[in-house]
Parts: sequence; structure tokens; C-alpha cells
Amino acid sequence: MNTKKLLITGGAGFIGSNFVHHVMESFNDVNVIVIDKLTYAGNLKNLSKWKEDPRFQFFKVDIADKESLFETCGGLDFTDIVHFAAESHVDRSILGPEEFVRTNVFGTFYLLELAKERFKKFIFNRFLHVSTDEVYGTLGEDGFFTETTSYAPNSPYSATKAGSDHLVRSYFHTYGLPTITTNCSNNYGPFHFPEKLIPLMILNCFQGKPLPVYGKGDNIRDWLYVKDHCSAIFTALEKGIPGETYVVGTRNEKTNLDIVNRICELMDEKHPEGAPHKNLIQYVKDRAGHDFRYAIDPSKIETELGWKPKYNFESALEETVDWFLTNQVWWKDILSGDYQNYYNQQYQELKQK
Ligand code: NAD
Ligand code: DAU
Repeated sequence: MNTKKLLITGGAGFIGSNFVHHVMESFNDVNVIVIDKLTYAGNLKNLSKWKEDPRFQFFKVDIADKESLFETCGGLDFTDIVHFAAESHVDRSILGPEEFVRTNVFGTFYLLELAKERFKKFIFNRFLHVSTDEVYGTLGEDGFFTETTSYAPNSPYSATKAGSDHLVRSYFHTYGLPTITTNCSNNYGPFHFPEKLIPLMILNCFQGKPLPVYGKGDNIRDWLYVKDHCSAIFTALEKGIPGETYVVGTRNEKTNLDIVNRICELMDEKHPEGAPHKNLIQYVKDRAGHDFRYAIDPSKIETELGWKPKYNFESALEETVDWFLTNQVWWKDILSGDYQNYYNQQYQELKQK
């Protein structure tokens, strides 16, 4: 079998770094080149395990800077692109959408241009675009997102991801670039950046800080363990049909309050200092334009590509709590850096009732 040579964008972030671990640990015949701008969300420590491995290379690159993207990557040897790099946090997109347009739309466009050049001259297998179920907007009490759901993005974040999905689609139809798009639900697991719901609640319990629940806490998300997501992406890369999209999820709908309560129970057991942690819950101002419910029907990737998740929600959530309790240096470094200043100045205002 020929060696797969993956150019992975955003590989120093949450899902990207889990994907690097997944491929490096599972396959000897895969080489990995990570490009990442190392924004506040990118962390080279997520990848430190591989820094001496001859199969691994890293380059600090801003995908929205066309010149430096082409200069760095033009001469690199890769057969596929797996595109994770993005501004990913909805609340930040409400506070400042511009960087989202820059990275998510222009960055994806320049990367598609890079792939198109590559595809003309060399072996190029797949451009796999990692996207989100938020492009479909919100569901009511019933129904599921599938590959045929109409696009209806509601936040600046999801609008820029929708724009990037459309660009990817157009490069398949117009230029024949072998693209695949995956749209998944909310991930959780190791290396999750502490501004997102699950890690934020774990770390605030640990530190005895308030647990800010938006609105009434009845919004629903469909939780996907990041390791299952990584195996789905690899399956789509290997078996997916060019031009197709695949939605990814594991049928784990929970209200935000269910999630926060379960984390409080796990923390009562594992970090009894401060128990009962439920006393820390504070209901705060709702997110502007807050989507009510996301839920995925993953039948297509299951039946057409044979993908099966391995983890169940209860044990994977517990594993996640344990990961944060074991890897305190990782998150304490983040909390003591610039992120915390930003968080204090910007988010607190957003969360005032
Ligand atoms: P993340 O914010 O943890 O990581 C994003 C990574 O992209 C970081 O390493 C960052 O440094 C890098 N990056 C940002 N701007 C860049 C630029 N201009 N050039 C190069 N690198 C840049 O995000 P994540 O949660 O790991 O999400 C990864 C992808 O998956 C995103 O495309 C996101 O939209 C999508 N997604 C995420 C989720 C989720 O639940 N986290 C769910 C669905 C889809
Ligand atoms: O659905 C996929 C999306 O999931 C991805 O595309 C995004 O990149 C990812 O960030 C995530 O978006 P969400 O907005 O759903 O995730 P977040 O963790 O920010 O919020 C999850 C839910 O919890 C949401 O309903 C808002 C709520 N929430 C969030 C925070 C940070 C709170 O109630 N309190 C909080 O402090």
C-alpha cells in the first residue's frame, strides 16, 4: 500500500490534535504534516509526543495569508488535505466576527486553491473539509439533521462555516477536486479548549468558580466523543465518495443542564472538595441567537461507509473528566496565559444577566 501523506490544518487545536494522535497511533504508513497558526486555541504541547517522530512535521502557517501558505506548502510532499483550521467558538464570533470570515472563508478558499494547483500536477487523493452541524441552523423538538437538510446558519461562526462548505462543494463541481465534507455535532474529550461547555464546567467545579448556564439550560446538543469523530473522519477519507457529504454523530442528545448536572456528580465523586458542585450553577444571560437543538442522523456514514462509534457517552464523559484531573499542568498553563485575560474582559460582559 502507498504511504498516505496528510497535510493537516489546525492540527494543534482540539479535534485536529486528537486526529493526529489517532492516525499516528493507528497507522505506521501515514506521514503527517501539521500546519497551524497557533492562535489562542492552538497549542504545540498537544502534539509534543510526536515532535521527534520522523513521520511528523510541523509548520506555523496562517491559512488566510495566501502568500505564506503557498510559500510554505507549495514544496511539501502530501497526498491529501484534512482541513480542521478554523475559528471555532460561537461566543467569540458574536463578539468579533471578522477573524471568522478571514480564517474560515478566506483561509478555506486559499487552501482549496493550493489543493487545485496540487491536483493539476501531482497525485492528490482527497480534500477532506471538517465542518459542523451548525450550518443547518436549529431544530425544534423533533427531527434530525441529515446530508439533505437545507443550510440555515444562525451565528457568524456557522455562517462562515456554511460559506466554506459551499466553496468546497463548488471546487468539486467546477474543478473536479476530490472533496469530501463532514458535518458533525458537538465534540468532547482530551485537549478540549477550556472555553467550551464541558471543559469549562469541569475546570470551574475544580476551582470552585460559578458554572454559567445560558438561559434555562434547556438547549440540546448531540454529544460526540472526539475519538469517535476521528475514526469517522479517517473512514470518510479512505472510503468516502468525492463530492459527497457525511453527517457525523452518535445519537447522544442532552440538555445543557443534563450535562452540567452529570459533571457536578462526577466531580463530587472525584474531587469532593467543594461538593455538592451543583451549588455553583448560575443561570446567566442567554446567548444571542442561541440555537435550540442539534441532533444528527448518522445513517449514511454508518450504512454506506461502515463507520461505527466505539464509545458510550457515560464512560467517555467520565474519561474526559479524568483526563482534565490528570492533566492539570496542560490547562493551568492555558488559564494563566492570555486566554484568561480575554475571557475575563470579554466574556464576563456577555454572560451578565
Ligand atoms: P479549535 O478552536 O480547538 O482549534 C482550531 C485550530 O485551528 C487551532 O489550532 C488554531 O490555532 C488553528 N487556526 C485558527 N485559525 C487559523 C489560521 N488562520 N491558520 C492556521 N491555523 C489556524 O477547534 P476544534 O474544536 O478543534 O475544531 C476543529 C474543526 O472542527 C473546526 O473547523 C470546527 O469548525 C469543526 N468542528 C468543531 C466541533 C467541536 O465540537 N469542537 C464540532 C463540529 C465541527
Ligand atoms: O455543533 C457543533 C459545534 O459545537 C461546533 O461547530 C463548534 O465549533 C463548537 O464550539 C460547538 O458549538 P456550541 O456553541 O454548541 O458549543 P459550546 O461549548 O460553546 O456550547 C454548548 C452549549 O452550552 C450551548 O448551548 C451554549 C451552552 N453554554 C456554553 C458555555 C460556554 C452554556 O450554557 N454556558 C457556557 O458557559
